Amino acid sequence: MPSVLVTREIFPETLQRLAGHFEVTPNEGDQTWAPGALARSLAGHEGVLVAGGERIDAALLDANPQLKAVCNMAVGYNNIDVAACTARGVLVTNTPDVLTETTADFGFALMMATARRIAEGEHYLRAGKWTRWSYNLLTGSDVHGATLGILGMGRIGQGIARRGALGFGMQVIYHNRSRLPADQEASIQARYVSKEELLREADHLVLVLPYSPASHHAIGAAELALMKPTATLTNIARGGIVDDAALAEALKQGTIAAAGLDVFEGEPSVHPGLLEVPNVVLTPHIASATVRTRRAMADLAADNLIAALTGGRAPTPVNP
Ligand code: DGY
Repeated sequence: MPSVLVTREIFPETLQRLAGHFEVTPNEGDQTWAPGALARSLAGHEGVLVAGGERIDAALLDANPQLKAVCNMAVGYNNIDVAACTARGVLVTNTPDVLTETTADFGFALMMATARRIAEGEHYLRAGKWTRWSYNLLTGSDVHGATLGILGMGRIGQGIARRGALGFGMQVIYHNRSRLPADQEASIQARYVSKEELLREADHLVLVLPYSPASHHAIGAAELALMKPTATLTNIARGGIVDDAALAEALKQGTIAAAGLDVFEGEPSVHPGLLEVPNVVLTPHIASATVRTRRAMADLAADNLIAALTGGRAPTPVNP
């Protein structure tokens, strides 16, 4: 039987299914991997189920030439050096589709919480500051009828566009590496614009593009300066797409009104400037975190691993 490592605590049913095919080394107690520990623990394993926090790079692969499959329990796979895997004949898989709607729900919720200052209101109330109803208490900006800007227009971006256009009567504009076919644009009522127009026109800008060297700091001081002072920015994509230091300064100076962030540069660390400003809603990378979706992600990663190591065809490969 091949042996596999599962780097995170996952559902017992998924582990049991894997145990029907493999010698499984689970991560009991969901321990965090110290630097270098993952490469050492992979010794003797032909496959691994990993999550976003674990880096799979050339050095780890060279230390584990027996490795045949790296199955990510996430749709984003910037934690994996895919080129290094491909060069060594290691299959990489991810978990698209199963988390699309759940993640779009969260993106929309975070955007709404940011626009309507829900977290600020909660902190205010818990701090015992609420003494009377007042006309100008925590006034935010409308979501319905506003202009929704989406940077990145993959499956999750389209889910957010649908929610905005069809559910909230928003004007949806987007920018992406490639433009959607006209019928797809029509079905989600989204209009393609330049990145500059997107930044200038959006009342609420949501980031849903993958991280790569090309998207590093796609939103920095210069981009924030183009946005409306009343605008909000929501990032459910990846840390590193936003320059968090520049964002903290923009929030402090009122360059934009507010931000909602589920992902951070260098997470789980959060830039101290972001912790100091009140006009940001901070969540710990939970956009896909519903029980059903996390189970589906683990199951799809397991399907990939089983197929990859038993001569089948992995359902969602990243490299051919
Ligand atoms: C994903 O699937 O990419 C989510 O961000 C979870 O890591």
